[in-house]
Amino acid sequence: SSPSIFTVKASSSSSTLTEPQGFTIKSVPTEPIEGQKTGTSGLRKKVKVFMQENYLANWIQALFSSLPPEDYNNGLLVLGGDGRYFNREAAQVIIKIAAGNGVGKILVGKDGIMSTPAVSAVIRKRKANGGFIMSASHNPGGPEYDWGIKFNYSSGQPAPESITDKIYGNTLSISEIKMADIPDVDLSCVGITTFGNFSVEVVDPVGDYMDLMERVFDFQLIRSLLSQSYFRFTYDAMHAVTGAYAKPIFVEKLAASPDSILNGIPLEDFGHGHPDPNLTYAKDLVDIMYGENAPDFGAASDGDGDRNMILGQSFFVTPSDSVAIIAANAQAAIPYFHSGIKGLARSMPTSGALDRVAEKLDLPFFEVPTGWKFFGNLMDSEKLSICGEESFGTGSDHIREKDGIWAVLAWLSIIAYRNKDKKPGEKLVSVSDVVKEHWATYGRNFFSRYDYEECESDGANKMMEYLRDLVSKNKTGEKYGDYALRYADDFAYKDPVDGSVALKQGVRFVFMDGSRIIFRLSGTGSAGATIRIYIEQFEPDVSKHDMDAQAALKPLIDLALSVSKLQEFTGREEPTVIT
Ligand code: G6P
Ligand code: ZN
Repeated sequence: SSPSIFTVKASSSSSTLTEPQGFTIKSVPTEPIEGQKTGTSGLRKKVKVFMQENYLANWIQALFSSLPPEDYNNGLLVLGGDGRYFNREAAQVIIKIAAGNGVGKILVGKDGIMSTPAVSAVIRKRKANGGFIMSASHNPGGPEYDWGIKFNYSSGQPAPESITDKIYGNTLSISEIKMADIPDVDLSCVGITTFGNFSVEVVDPVGDYMDLMERVFDFQLIRSLLSQSYFRFTYDAMHAVTGAYAKPIFVEKLAASPDSILNGIPLEDFGHGHPDPNLTYAKDLVDIMYGENAPDFGAASDGDGDRNMILGQSFFVTPSDSVAIIAANAQAAIPYFHSGIKGLARSMPTSGALDRVAEKLDLPFFEVPTGWKFFGNLMDSEKLSICGEESFGTGSDHIREKDGIWAVLAWLSIIAYRNKDKKPGEKLVSVSDVVKEHWATYGRNFFSRYDYEECESDGANKMMEYLRDLVSKNKTGEKYGDYALRYADDFAYKDPVDGSVALKQGVRFVFMDGSRIIFRLSGTGSAGATIRIYIEQFEPDVSKHDMDAQAALKPLIDLALSVSKLQEFTGREEPTVIT
């Protein structure tokens, strides 16, 4: 393996702290660096920012300084990543600071590769104290693009705000980094390297995750579908981390044809791609699925493997519908849920399709702010089994992260289950058949999201202030065009388990017929501000279910733009992404 090109510079004044473990721990003097506050999902910046001297090291040290020592002293931590540019160098820095702070062992995926859901699974299975994920998720990678770091806690869930706030506080007063003086560890070979009381074990990133998937799903059922020549499956790994998982799981275990995997090799720059599985950025897959002779089933996952997109022939399953349909079919089609579902949950902007399933199945239901971390407590206290977000995240309490491959296997299970008694030559129950039947039973929640990326922060903040002011003055019954207001507010959430409160989670206008318009600023961007507008309308009438969502939602979209004065505040005419 190549030696690290990135080392934290130990200035001449650095001193040797102790030598209790067979290696030297250096005290590297440092100074606070601005802007190290974590967002919706870890700390995310341009890679050039992270490559500045001590930038990453400061944050990692601040993290150790924020945890109670008994949470990592002689403990086990997992280290994974999505294979992006700078991960190799960053892994060495993290390993050295972990050793410097007294961690006992680091379990790292070969070549630093391990998907976000797999890290969560490994933390749980190996009873680790936590883990790091080197990823900026779906953001592009490469020297000009993004890098990121996330920390997950001992049950495999993203660190709660109580921890990330502490880390931020420590980044503002940091003066010293504790770093083990050990050589770079070769991450390209599976095996254990030991330095005194500290060791690094390089593992196959797929093994534990595959075992878990085999316990959750009926692999034989899925195999019975994927092995048929009449069922054509396509999976786009987008040159991101699930490239490492797709072949062993879909091809080797489940008998999909080897050419069903597209862009299956993880690359540092994702092949110049933007590894976000949606209609805009997964264009190659969308073209195939909407083209002539399209496969029966198409799916994609993002940079770190936690997001998913599901497509049928010329058909897109919205993430809000996807979680509702998985929930409605899980007990029958997925062994993990045979004994029952504890509860369902979605993020606030996600459509109400899931609410209707919860109502019909008489299940506890929760609405949380955007961010997967808000599901963790509900799962730990056995109140929640299946949940999802409009942002292409779907998952369950098998781990504490959303899980792209899990969602694909869930859909394959549903399709396989629905077709298991088919005679040869009989027409297949397709992805679109399953969705349309669901709408016929529950009604359709038309949903769309408009993103205005990299707006000037000032204008975006002013727009949100304007909206907050507006909702504070609103009255029930007030008319907005043809819509009468039921209520408007800035969403606040009180965690039912630990009582913690999250304020200002999105401004929403909810109308008498259940239609909603929601405004939020993204917490995951790396530059400027991204405004998201979420638009939803419920349609019980089956004869209207085939309408195009953009056409069905046009009046509400126009209303959202005029109510928010978005154009005035931002100067933007058009969204950059529509999903
Ligand atoms: C990440 C988080 C999700 C969140 C999504 C969008 O994927 O894990 O929980 O829904 O980002 O967040 P944003 O703040 O950009 O809307
Ligand atoms: Zn992701």
